[in-house]
Amino acid sequence: MSKEIVVSGIRSTGNLHLGNYFGAMQHYLKMQDAHQCYFFVADYHSLTTHPDPKDLKTNVFRVVAEYIASGLDPEKAVLYAQSDVPEIPELYLMLNMLAYMGELEKVPTFKEKVRLNPDNVNAGLLTYPVLMAADILIHRAVKVPVGKDQEQHLEMARNFAQRFNSRYGFYFPEPHVYRSNEETVKIMSLDGLGKMSKSENINATIYLNDDDDIIRKKIMKAKTDQGPQETNAIMPDYIQNLFLLLKLTSKSETYEHFLNAYNNCTVRYGDLKKQLAEDMVGFISPIRNKANDLQRDDSSIRKILKKGAEKARESASITIDGARKLIGINYY
Ligand code: AMP
Ligand code: TRP
Repeated sequence: MSKEIVVSGIRSTGNLHLGNYFGAMQHYLKMQDAHQCYFFVADYHSLTTHPDPKDLKTNVFRVVAEYIASGLDPEKAVLYAQSDVPEIPELYLMLNMLAYMGELEKVPTFKEKVRLNPDNVNAGLLTYPVLMAADILIHRAVKVPVGKDQEQHLEMARNFAQRFNSRYGFYFPEPHVYRSNEETVKIMSLDGLGKMSKSENINATIYLNDDDDIIRKKIMKAKTDQGPQETNAIMPDYIQNLFLLLKLTSKSETYEHFLNAYNNCTVRYGDLKKQLAEDMVGFISPIRNKANDLQRDDSSIRKILKKGAEKARESASITIDGARKLIGINYY
């Protein structure tokens, strides 16, 4: 039986953080054996904010280094840069004809970007979900491991697929969000303000390339309060977030220990954070060190990307040929 097709990507807009790791990458790792996986670096998506051209290559290579350091295996999964696959922008153009202004303007991530950067409301930002749909449909993927914040974009990808199918005949299977376990992980910023992200408060974001001491400092500064005032109290979201991180990076006994302490009101957040900091250092430092070594070896990353692009284009060109024929671009 042929393997199910999986696509996912992360934008090369800065260093990867715990949200990227637990929201997306940990699922990639678990999927690379049993599925036909295409994992890419979304460098075209990063252009919406006009990054300095000097930084593009470093940003893309860093994501690849962090992918591999985290355990992605280029022999199992196809790893590539979005901009190396010209069939993606071609499909994006086709899908743009099926995407309506009204629905694009309503997307919450678009509205948020408009609110934050009213001076840069470009068409690329508006059609971001269309490019994302093209990334997925170009391999006719059915499973897409992404964090909770991307669910609406996936719904739009399904809508575009359906519209194409009903106009031109069934062609694209509908892609769905997929996670290797039931948990929908959303990592909050350590200051308790919104989700952890590449660009917001860097002191409240733990990056995969943070030094050990920086990791410790950031965790010790994480927002807490005076502690629960009654047994089995409901946790505020910033405390829940610390427990989530503990669950993801510490031993289960450690997690249980602090959870019991919380429930019977004896928890000491200073101790919890000290333990979390050490476990986090143990988790991140091998990834960071390996990514740094890899990044110094420019030629091996280049080789991986070239080979990945070839494989991605094999699949993409088949899809685009079929789409062209269905649309009627079939002249000779
Ligand atoms: P981005 O950095 O926006 O390109 O996101 C890449 C992937 O990481 C997507 O699948 C996101 O859903 C996921 N992701 C980003 N931030 C978080 C977060 N704070 N919690 C969980 N998942 C996240
Ligand atoms: N939009 C995603 C994000 O910001 C990144 C992305 C671009 C993506 N294209 C994709 C994720 C295709 C999955 C599939 O997180």
